[in-house]
Amino acid sequence: MNITVIGAQWGDEGKGKIVDYLAADAQIIVRFSGGANAGHTIVIGNEQFALHLVPSGVLYPDKRVILGSGMVIDPEALFDELAMLESRGINWNDRVFISDRAHLVLPRYREMDRQMEAARKRPIGTTGRGIGLAYSMKASRDGVRLADLSDEDRLVNLEEKDIEYIKKWRGRLLALAIDLPSFLYNHKNNYTLFEGAQGALLDLDSGTYPFVSSGMSGAAGAAAQGGIGPRKIDRVLGVFKAYSTRVGNGPFPSEFDEHSQSSLCQFIRDTGREYGVTTGRPRRCGYLDLVALRYACLVNSIDSLVLTHLDVYDTLDDFEACVAYKVNGKLLEYFPAGIGDLAKAEPVLRKFKGWNKAVKHTRAYEELPMEAREYIAFIEEYCETPVDIVSVGYERSDTIVRKSPWTR
Ligand code: IMP
Repeated sequence: MNITVIGAQWGDEGKGKIVDYLAADAQIIVRFSGGANAGHTIVIGNEQFALHLVPSGVLYPDKRVILGSGMVIDPEALFDELAMLESRGINWNDRVFISDRAHLVLPRYREMDRQMEAARKRPIGTTGRGIGLAYSMKASRDGVRLADLSDEDRLVNLEEKDIEYIKKWRGRLLALAIDLPSFLYNHKNNYTLFEGAQGALLDLDSGTYPFVSSGMSGAAGAAAQGGIGPRKIDRVLGVFKAYSTRVGNGPFPSEFDEHSQSSLCQFIRDTGREYGVTTGRPRRCGYLDLVALRYACLVNSIDSLVLTHLDVYDTLDDFEACVAYKVNGKLLEYFPAGIGDLAKAEPVLRKFKGWNKAVKHTRAYEELPMEAREYIAFIEEYCETPVDIVSVGYERSDTIVRKSPWTR
């Protein structure tokens, strides 16, 4: 069985925790997109792991994890991460693999990323990891894939220092290389999780272009870049938070007003630990944007939603969610493509009652406070998509499963 898990907002929805949780029942985890721009935090007991490139299932001793064909891999960052895992007792030998169709991020891409960003009158707010450059090189057919590393003919167009760099890492990278489609075919009876990076609204095609990342963050990426075809995906899960966050620039209609709601923003930032795992940047915060979430469900065929960070709202008397936009005085109930429209969009907010109770130890959905269930029921109705899993804390066990995605 094959399940795809994507972020349904602007990234940082808690995918890492959910993939880690669902990986208990999987044998293989394939991350299909992005690079070291991503950051996942996984908490196991007193230990906290920050992962950027290695798929979240790596913390289980028996799971095979694969960096998929759509990823752009910075070898230094990858081997640093693997060394960190090893130093903390995680043995990754013979179970971390890389698709030989994945591309490399060369050191000069990072420099070019920073220079291009500095030259933009309206910066995107990139992570500076060379991600956009690696995808541009791929699209212009000047990229370097793992499969090219031992093919001298493929390297002739590179600069001398690129070749030196490649020679330095080639042996270690090729030791992990696999032909992903054959590998998955040979393990077709396994349970496989396809892990997205970033979020639906940062997807190059469906996101808030140009304020997006450059990879395929949506569910389609699992098929295009995960080594299987679209009809082999059994289910798509979309992970979202009880509220919204965004890092970097770009429109964010339900963002808190920095004057009237600055204390609420700081409260959510501190309670939800909303600081970038990769860059340490404080995340922009706002109420849940249901217009955007419904759009994410639609363009990604999300079968079921996973709600995270519900516990962050535990102490609020009430809160709101965005149910429509007003643009130039007109009511808009869909997510527009125009950045100008999104930037101007005023959120139409609906109020919800808070529950004033800690939900962290709740394990059965029926035991959640009535107000929390009312919020969830509204989301389900608005998005026409069930919320099958609710996360109420950082740890694996802080999870309420109403319906396991692994049941057919
Ligand atoms: P890039 O991916 O570094 O090119 O950055 C493009 C945009 O995507 C910036 O606004 C980043 O902050 C954002 N971004 C990239 N990766 C992530 C992520 O994993 N979580 C949230 N935002 C991200």
